[in-house]
Amino acid sequence: MELSKNVSAVVTGGASGLGEATARALAAQGVKVAIFDMNTAKGEAVAREIGGVYCNVNVTSEESVVAGFAAARAANGQERILVNCAGTGNAYRTAGRKKDGTITHFPVDQFDRIIQINLVGTFRCIAHSASGMLTLDPSSTGERGVIINTASVAAEDGQIGQAAYSASKGGVVGMTLPIARDLAREGVRVNTILPGLFKTPLMTAGGPDFVGKLEAQVPFPARLGNPAEYAGLALEMIRNCYFNGEDVRLDGAIRMAPQ
Ligand SMILES: NC(=O)c1ccc[n+]([C@@H]2O[C@H](COP(=O)([O-])OP(=O)(O)OC[C@H]3O[C@@H](n4cnc5c(N)ncnc54)[C@H](O)[C@@H]3O)[C@@H](O)[C@H]2O)c1
Repeated sequence: MELSKNVSAVVTGGASGLGEATARALAAQGVKVAIFDMNTAKGEAVAREIGGVYCNVNVTSEESVVAGFAAARAANGQERILVNCAGTGNAYRTAGRKKDGTITHFPVDQFDRIIQINLVGTFRCIAHSASGMLTLDPSSTGERGVIINTASVAAEDGQIGQAAYSASKGGVVGMTLPIARDLAREGVRVNTILPGLFKTPLMTAGGPDFVGKLEAQVPFPARLGNPAEYAGLALEMIRNCYFNGEDVRLDGAIRMAPQ
């Protein structure tokens, strides 16, 4: 799909990190961008800088997502591009022992919270966005739209404490091909990126020592990924019409250890 001012996009999680970098990269190509996020201060600031619109959307809420798409389309027209970056994680052992011997387990409501945001939230945005894309005429390449999802290398090599996060991201990987097949006859492509360790607030919150240890684990280049490198792959997946139904790691060859 050609990126130009004639095309609009919705980027969930676009107020920060990988979503923000993608929103900026799309806007730099002239694309009209709507940011769906819950961080209003940052989302509004990014939208202002890139000439886009900010919609306060919680991807776990059906009502909020429906209202978000209505607002985005009123401002920019029906989107041909959806990039799903809204997401978060947590860490609990499935069952374990505290130092005092007390036995604990992963709080099931916390497991469900991550599934609702990362997996169901992603699917909700896909279902609503794809329904809108089907109202469009196909472009000269036969395309009505492109959808990019964000999983994680934790979908394949989840670490201790990541049962919920890995399950949510494994779900995103697992649904990529069937959704691409569902939408193929309508000319909507679907691909998923599995990022390794990227330099975003999610990763750098642990401080410089923590980041240094993470960087040392990456074979090459031995550093965190730059969000612009994620955005670069997202834009290639959007531009390249033959890219469909793929799950692609972007990770400097890292394979996460158990801990
Ligand atoms: N940074 C990494 O190294 C890394 C690695 C693998 C996967 N990922 C995935 O990439 C995605 C983006 O992560 P990031 O590192 O840019 O994180 P980030 O925290 O910088 O950005 C995530 C954004 O999502 C928004 N968000 C969270 N819950 C939401 C909800 N319910 N509704 C709407 N918006 C919501 C947050 O407000 C935030 O702006 C996430 O899905 C994350 O799991 C990140």
